[in-house]
Amino acid sequence: MTTSNTHKTQALYQHARTIIPGGVHLLSKRPEMFAPDQWPAYYREARGCEIWDLDDRHYYDLGINSVGACLLGYADPDVTRAVERRVRLGSMCSLNPPEEVELAERLCALHPWASKVRLARTGGELAAVAVRIARATTDRSAIAICGYHGWADWYLAANLGDNDSLRGHLLPGLDPLGVPRELRNTTFPFTYNDKAAFAKIIREQGPRLAAVVMEPCRQYDPDPGFLEFVREETRKAGVLLIFDEITIGWRFHHGGAHLKFGIEPDMAMFAKALGNGHPIAAVIGTAAAMEGAHTSFISSAYWTEAVGPAAACATLEKLAAVDAVGFVARQGAKIQALLRQAAAAHKLPVTVKGYACTPTFTFDHAQANALKTLYIQTLLEKGFLGGLLIFVTMAHTDAVLDKFSTALDETFAELADALAKNEVEKRLKGPQAHQGFRRLI
Ligand SMILES: Cc1ncc(COP(=O)(O)O)c(C=O)c1O
Repeated sequence: MTTSNTHKTQALYQHARTIIPGGVHLLSKRPEMFAPDQWPAYYREARGCEIWDLDDRHYYDLGINSVGACLLGYADPDVTRAVERRVRLGSMCSLNPPEEVELAERLCALHPWASKVRLARTGGELAAVAVRIARATTDRSAIAICGYHGWADWYLAANLGDNDSLRGHLLPGLDPLGVPRELRNTTFPFTYNDKAAFAKIIREQGPRLAAVVMEPCRQYDPDPGFLEFVREETRKAGVLLIFDEITIGWRFHHGGAHLKFGIEPDMAMFAKALGNGHPIAAVIGTAAAMEGAHTSFISSAYWTEAVGPAAACATLEKLAAVDAVGFVARQGAKIQALLRQAAAAHKLPVTVKGYACTPTFTFDHAQANALKTLYIQTLLEKGFLGGLLIFVTMAHTDAVLDKFSTALDETFAELADALAKNEVEKRLKGPQAHQGFRRLI
């Protein structure tokens, strides 16, 4: 649907597909993942949870909200002020920015179990750093994983074994093309809460295992005793436990989910919300676990720029001051209630799941993907960026939720009508959303 009022935005994306393989640089921001030919790929401006595309169309973001990077909302004024100050003073030179020491101190103060910090700029890059440190510290190679940890070789190597072994952790369809075959049998996935699968890896790979890298939680709490079991077994086997807090950290509990669960890892990783939209990532750890960072060569020019740590210091200060965790839990619970109420009112087969800070829902129907695409298409026309996963931010005020409530009710009414008349696919103005990874052209 390249109508006149979405012309520039759609035209630029069609051009981008010819010059940027994959169209964009993050799979989760590919328009095809939402509503192909309709979803706006580009923005001119973003504030709070409001976005203006290149055609000056205005949207409220009730979907992925920058995949969770901006917990304070887009262009938070306090973080922007800290960044602007740093840019004016110079954000890169031959010396190092003092903000990186301040950030390291802030992180250690929040995590008394940790005493060392290394910084990077993105999540996947940080995970590669953490794995390198763990391998250097333990002088072992194998890694066990549970969750999504980025795009790098060490992680995708899990798919060199049994086909698609990352299916439950990552998206289906990810071929480890370009990952050296020699990495086969270096990364071993296990399913969250599956003690037996985890114990099997420890039993079979224990002496080869450098680390277990896992999200402490993502959408629901661990079974009682699961994280304790992982902690105990890794300790006994001399394996480092690395919690990946890149997505759940800061939004579910200030400082990370592991603090809430009371489990101390050997290392923990933060990115995304840490910089509220500015690139910064941090791995923290005990002195013993981080020993490998002294001996292994881990070094990069832009890990020394100043914007990232300046943004992170301002973000941490504000997240605590405004009780971001409490706010997004309250607003997310309201969103979950709105979804349930609208589904019940229109008798739609919808299941609402997940933590309140990241509500998610499914259409339990044979035409689930067509329904999802029609949901996104209909909300777009009402000025909302929607999706089945909503990262709640400080910008989702009651006033925004009131607007969403009306749009949601009308959208679910449209879906119910389309279902009743067997017209779900017919009403789509473009192809259905992609499911998983697919080559574009
Ligand atoms: C838990 C987790 N780890 C790592 C990553 C990778 O981070 P990035 O996209 O910044 O490379 C993500 C991104 O979604 C994530 O959710």
